[in-house]
Amino acid sequence: MGKTIIISNRLPLQINISDNKIEVTPSVGGLATGLKSFHQEGDSIWIGWTGLSSEEIPEDLQDEVEKKAMEQNCVPVSLTTDEIERFYYGFSNRTIWPLFHYFMEYTEFQPEHWEGYKTVNKKYCEAVVERLDDGDTVWVHDYQLLLLPEMIRKKKPNVTIGFFNHIPFPSYEVFRTLPWREEILRGMLGSDLIGFHTYDYERHFLRSVNRILRHDINFNSVNIGNRIVKSDSFPMGIDYNKFRDAALEHRTKPRSENTDIQKKLDYHKYVTRNTKLILSIDRLDYTKGIANRIRAYGYFLEKYPEYQEKVRLIMLAVPSRTNVPQYQLLKKEVDELVGRINGKFATVNWTPIWYFYRSMPFENLIDLYCSSEVALITPTRDGMNLVAKEYISTRIDNTGVLILSEMAGAAHELNEALIINPNNFEQIVDTIKQALEMPEEEQIRRNKVLQRRLKRYSVEKWAEDFMTNLKNTRKTRKAFKTIQLTENIKKDLFDKYNSAQRRILFLDYDGTLVNFVDKPEDAKPDEELKELINKLGQQENTRVVMISGRDKETLGSWWKSIPIELIAEHGVWLRPVGEEWQLSENLNNSWMKTIRPVLETFVDRTPGTFIEEKNYSLAWHFRKANPELGEVRANELSNVLRDMISNHGLSVLQGNKVLEIKNSGVNKGKAANKRLTEKYAFIFAIGDDWTDEYLFSELPDYATTVKVGMNKTDAKYYLENVEQVRELLEEFASLTH
Ligand code: ADP
Ligand code: G6P
Repeated sequence: MGKTIIISNRLPLQINISDNKIEVTPSVGGLATGLKSFHQEGDSIWIGWTGLSSEEIPEDLQDEVEKKAMEQNCVPVSLTTDEIERFYYGFSNRTIWPLFHYFMEYTEFQPEHWEGYKTVNKKYCEAVVERLDDGDTVWVHDYQLLLLPEMIRKKKPNVTIGFFNHIPFPSYEVFRTLPWREEILRGMLGSDLIGFHTYDYERHFLRSVNRILRHDINFNSVNIGNRIVKSDSFPMGIDYNKFRDAALEHRTKPRSENTDIQKKLDYHKYVTRNTKLILSIDRLDYTKGIANRIRAYGYFLEKYPEYQEKVRLIMLAVPSRTNVPQYQLLKKEVDELVGRINGKFATVNWTPIWYFYRSMPFENLIDLYCSSEVALITPTRDGMNLVAKEYISTRIDNTGVLILSEMAGAAHELNEALIINPNNFEQIVDTIKQALEMPEEEQIRRNKVLQRRLKRYSVEKWAEDFMTNLKNTRKTRKAFKTIQLTENIKKDLFDKYNSAQRRILFLDYDGTLVNFVDKPEDAKPDEELKELINKLGQQENTRVVMISGRDKETLGSWWKSIPIELIAEHGVWLRPVGEEWQLSENLNNSWMKTIRPVLETFVDRTPGTFIEEKNYSLAWHFRKANPELGEVRANELSNVLRDMISNHGLSVLQGNKVLEIKNSGVNKGKAANKRLTEKYAFIFAIGDDWTDEYLFSELPDYATTVKVGMNKTDAKYYLENVEQVRELLEEFASLTH
């Protein structure tokens, strides 16, 4: 068992240097606080940034900084001011963060930020690869490092890589606006497992992969040719026991040992009995809905004036990303709003809002959680929101009311909280009233359920679940029985090829010798391919049969004077070397006039699809259609056709994004077997789609069968792509015997 390497942009520790002294404090934010306990307990190292630029760390302190970090098994990655500007403040926080939280109006698309993002992801990659041993597992975190999985995979193809996205993944319509959308998706797909907080984020991601990269999705797996990538949802939990224990200790501590903040809170409660505290804690971020929360609170005091002097909002806003203009504007807005509401409603004895703009030590957070009757958490978008979970876990006597926005990932699990829409002012205001007036029994009833759930699905369980699923992807990889055609296997194959008296090669065309293009007529063979096939065809004792679903006219014109046999329409037509086309089966095509109008109605209803008419078959292509709609319609069409064609000797064949209606009994396997008129010591067949499976299953057992792409198959071996197929055939062609 190797170690786990955790990589996130920010380390769980923050380093500050003043007067040449190093100070280490914990980082704020869901990722760092949540993962910390997993890191502390296991055998892992954590690679990330300390929060300081390399220019800010004096040379003589560099070793010391590393040492301090290593004491907590952390490895600092040093970033220059310029890198921080372009990668962190730039692409991460002015492009991805706003876009993924649906703040399109804040999203900037700046090529120099993108360049900085790539450079820093590479830097992280080098730091990982340097420390990676065989058997290690890599776990990459969050939106700052979306390119990292692919970068690591390129350097270490066999390593197991997990990725977790801690923020929302936006819907396809939003994501597609990103100029670098393909690169980002490919970067993520370098992983074996990709985790999200919620099922919705996962579906959004899969849909983008399907629409943008056109990879097939099978439930929650993405087939990317040479590998299967899994995705799943794992809602992140908190270190429940840590919060619980801290709250218990808080309750039993003698008064004299209380923090200053707790003493102030106690004093306040003493002098203003019957006053309730409403708590709001977040990083100062526009996604958290802080400004609207203050406005709603103001409106609450106006709508229900009887609560003036009876409630107080404690607002803790932690400084965050202060170099980004939107955060500076928000700070200004919040300062003004707090001032306005306090100015409007304050009395000699009462300030409606206590506002703190700073980070606080853990024990003060506990003071606030334990002392507040209501927590008001109203983000407009939030990947998860751990504060909501932390508040509930510290309520030792089970009282307290959580008001939570439905836009937070946490709302999916915390149903017993009072769930609000952060844009519905009336609802927020009325819910605050409901929370303040909720009978204790009801509070207890709700919180007990919530606490049970938080205890069960803690952060340890979350990490364990993710890691178990990640390890299982390794098993799945091994269980895939088709073997990759590696260099070693190829050597044997070449020996067999060389020593065979006679050989026959069956080659599929589309998806095997050429890549798919939108219009089938554009997939003409290039000169290089023609030369290659010509060379093979001229090799002594070698019979080359191109076996395709294409019509005979196209195939014939493309391979006119090349000395190979052609089989068109899956076996209907045969063109021996140097001869004319001949019908290889006795078929009729009178059924086509009945079926064609049915296909036409599907073309009309499914934009991007079209009909290809061959001599003895009809094909309905949906490669260019919306992939989801295409699949749905293909299913629908199969069902319709099945009823129509029964007892007519026809069958429906499902190819790669195409449905083909043809005479039953015609298939590539049957057609190929008919060519085996002599004894061949070497039989080779290669193809990429479902129609080629007939070839693989019907040829004699000793045939070498190869599938292109990593799909379920009866072939013995697989190759990843067209480029590898051509490479293999080049080697066949260069063998001398
Ligand atoms: P985000 O990840 O967007 O910052 P979360 O609510 O998921 O939001 O996580 C915030 C984390 O930061 C929580 O674990 C919380 O305890 C911690 N935190 C929030 N405010 C403070 C603060 N003022 N001082 C220290 N830690 C804080
Ligand atoms: C969120 C993000 C984290 C990030 C944290 C704090 O939780 O998901 O990746 O670390 O906010 O933000 P910061 O920019 O200070 O790292």
